[in-house]
Amino acid sequence: VDLTSVVTGVLGYHGGMIADRVRTDAFRRAIAEVVRPGDVVIDLGAGTGILALFACQAGAARVYAIEAAQVIHYARELIAANRAEDRICLVEGSSYDVTLPEPADVLLSETLWHFGLGEGIVGAIDDARRRLLAPDARIIPRSITLVAAPIESDAAYAPLERWAAAGKYDVDLSVLRAHETNATHQVDAHESELLAAPKTLVTLDLARGANAELDAEVAFEAARDGVLHGLAGWFRAQLSSSVDLTNGPPRRTTSWTHVLFPMEQPVRVRAGEALTWRLQTTANGTAWRWRTNVRAQSAGLRSVASDQSTIWAAPSPGSASARRSAGFRPTLSAEGRIEAFILRQFDGRRTVSEVEAMAKGEFPTSDRIGDRVRALASRLSE
Ligand SMILES: C[S@@+](CC[C@H](N)C(=O)[O-])C[C@H]1O[C@@H](n2cnc3c(N)ncnc32)[C@H](O)[C@@H]1O
Repeated sequence: VDLTSVVTGVLGYHGGMIADRVRTDAFRRAIAEVVRPGDVVIDLGAGTGILALFACQAGAARVYAIEAAQVIHYARELIAANRAEDRICLVEGSSYDVTLPEPADVLLSETLWHFGLGEGIVGAIDDARRRLLAPDARIIPRSITLVAAPIESDAAYAPLERWAAAGKYDVDLSVLRAHETNATHQVDAHESELLAAPKTLVTLDLARGANAELDAEVAFEAARDGVLHGLAGWFRAQLSSSVDLTNGPPRRTTSWTHVLFPMEQPVRVRAGEALTWRLQTTANGTAWRWRTNVRAQSAGLRSVASDQSTIWAAPSPGSASARRSAGFRPTLSAEGRIEAFILRQFDGRRTVSEVEAMAKGEFPTSDRIGDRVRALASRLSE
């Protein structure tokens, strides 16, 4: 283990978040507003324990600080150095595996991703709400709103253009570009880059219980001519009645950027043109699918309907061992479709040459169909 990189990685990440004054001050103010003297508090995903320490400042009697990662050992030092070890109980592990000796009055969690969901906040809070909280417990954040807007941004799209289809080293790189266009990207979207006013996709009420399986559609109208590079998303989190926190443009947070759901290709749009965008997420915010429809209304522009998903960002499970694994879901390859068609025609009535003619009609560009029919007939018929 390279200790230096572990230390710089962990402290760099958590130190960066603590140094983000907009983020950390907002949580501190919300905690001061919501936590009452004597409360039992859970800090879900405690990191260094900074929010647990804020809960002590607000008068909490006890804080259960749950953390799954190695940073918990730094939290232990920080809590001891701030003489809070008698009030903060560190619980190592995933919140899903934790049981506590008493129900909590307040749950706080800063497990927000750049686009709200994505670090599993909805599922983790829902699980804790059902198992670890008193009835009517208060939750920080109480809700999360997801917001998106179409953007024109050469800078945000630059990583995708690296995979130019031709011209570089005489190698066709487009197969890898297709993976990158199905990935989400962290970008900085500026107000001047928005092609339409931002729209709310959904508000998730964490206090009452929200569903992480999101399926939302929004419509936009281009406010100006431009080139659509994708949709940028960010969040607004209501931390308490008077404190909310957003990373929306103009971005003031340093620990969150925006998320770009890129187009497969940049698309020229004109002012007034309609655009619909459907966004789905599953697996507690870790897999995304986005479908974009641009209806061209002026000559020279093209309509576009794209369907993209982070599922396709991963490399194809092309290796034989991946295809033999228990969790692999096979679909028929082009070859498989031809063989399945041929086998379906073996009904005891058709001759080999009739089956060959049918298969040639169905797959006119495929060669050696006759050989295949005869090979399958000799191997798999009676
Ligand atoms: C974004 S950091 C925030 C850390 C700290 N609360 C702060 O505000 O500086 C989120 C932390 O939550 C932890 N985490 C996320 N989900 C968790 C879960 N379900 N159970 C335990 N820890 C979790 C991660 O390991 C990470 O350290």
